[in-house]
Amino acid sequence: MDNFNYHIPTDVYFGKGQISQLGQRMSAIAKKVLLVYGGGSIRKSGLYDQIQQQLQQADVTVFELAGVEPNPRIQTVRKGVALCKKEKIDAVLAAGGGSTIDCAKIVAAGSCYSGDAWDLVLDSSKIQKALPVAAVLTLAATGSEMDGFAVISDMEKNEKWGTGNDVTKPVFSILDPQYTCSVSKYQTAAGSSDIMSHTFENYFNNTKGAFLQARLAEGILKTVIRYAPIAIDHPEDYEARANLMWASSLAINGLISYGESTAWSVHPMEHELSAFYDITHGAGLALLTPYWMQYILSDKTVEKFAAYGVNVWDLDASQEPMRIAEEAIQKTRAFFTAIGMPSHLKDLGIDDTHFDVMAEKAANGGLAQGFVPLNKEDVKKIFIMAL
Ligand code: NZQ
Ligand code: ZN
Repeated sequence: MDNFNYHIPTDVYFGKGQISQLGQRMSAIAKKVLLVYGGGSIRKSGLYDQIQQQLQQADVTVFELAGVEPNPRIQTVRKGVALCKKEKIDAVLAAGGGSTIDCAKIVAAGSCYSGDAWDLVLDSSKIQKALPVAAVLTLAATGSEMDGFAVISDMEKNEKWGTGNDVTKPVFSILDPQYTCSVSKYQTAAGSSDIMSHTFENYFNNTKGAFLQARLAEGILKTVIRYAPIAIDHPEDYEARANLMWASSLAINGLISYGESTAWSVHPMEHELSAFYDITHGAGLALLTPYWMQYILSDKTVEKFAAYGVNVWDLDASQEPMRIAEEAIQKTRAFFTAIGMPSHLKDLGIDDTHFDVMAEKAANGGLAQGFVPLNKEDVKKIFIMAL
């Protein structure tokens, strides 16, 4: 296990009715807050009214940035930054899924930066300071509620990049699983796939002796495999929604990656699909992950895949490791298919037109450091397998 600095500063208020904490917590850090939200789901669910009531009672003045897109755009971030600077806003409150929270983070950082916010997306070291960010989560998926990352797109340039650091970690997040009951079946499946992918990205690494992190990761995977189908079939099932919501945070908040060298592989590839075709992040991950697993399975990686098969899918440990590994990958694909995720790029209207440039950009996104280092040619082969 490698050395690490455990730093997870976000206060989490988890469970039914925790929105009651909002007014008091916000008034302690802000007189003026920018409320950031998406296309209107929080209005339909009643969350918008609850937030307004909490902030009004706490004497906090609310400004709004509405209409944050899934795969949030830099253009929307810029609008938020301009508003924060003009109105001298003290804090940014996101209410929604990962897109909304990510947008809020870069609005918060951009408000403390003199140049254009896109600089902060391209170079996270330029994020030196940010307004305090808080979140009310409505979709279990990205873990943005408890990490410092933000992923922002410029669709005019077909670019989508991750950025962020400790200063963009939310100071507090409200996680009431009831808010996720209105998430569609498709977004529930995509979010669950995203949680699994974050766990895979951390789990498949070359650090020796991080036994505990691996077992925690397997626990998260088992949790999603158990509860995603229940949440899809029974959207109001609180136990399922609660377990998925907490899994979302734990998959990416550092708990399962501290002490290991974890460079991600499937995310940089998926970000190219979203940058060129604006697809749902989790659907792209569910599609690509089993092809990536197949591509990197070899004598060098078989042990890790066999452990995954035995500990997550309860496969018979007495079989040949390669047999277990192959079956585990098949189970992974079958699971994503069963929850309604696509398995071919053509199902999402994607052909090979941009494969060269997409593969090159993905390879430059850190793939050389991954569990199995990949170059442009490898990525292109994986895209071709996925057609
Ligand atoms: O915009 P609204 O109206 O809120 O609707 C959203 C949106 O259409 C809807 N939704 C959210 N909560 C709902 C709801 N609908 C009904 N009821 C609710 N309670 O769901 C749709 C998708 O929302 P979005 O926020 O885009 O989804 P998600 O949370 O999956 O976020 C995806 C974004 O996060 C990035 C992705 O790349 C993508 O841009 N990621 C962020 C990460 C991070 N910050 O750590 C890591 C991830 O790997 C990921 O890259
Ligand atoms: Zn993700």
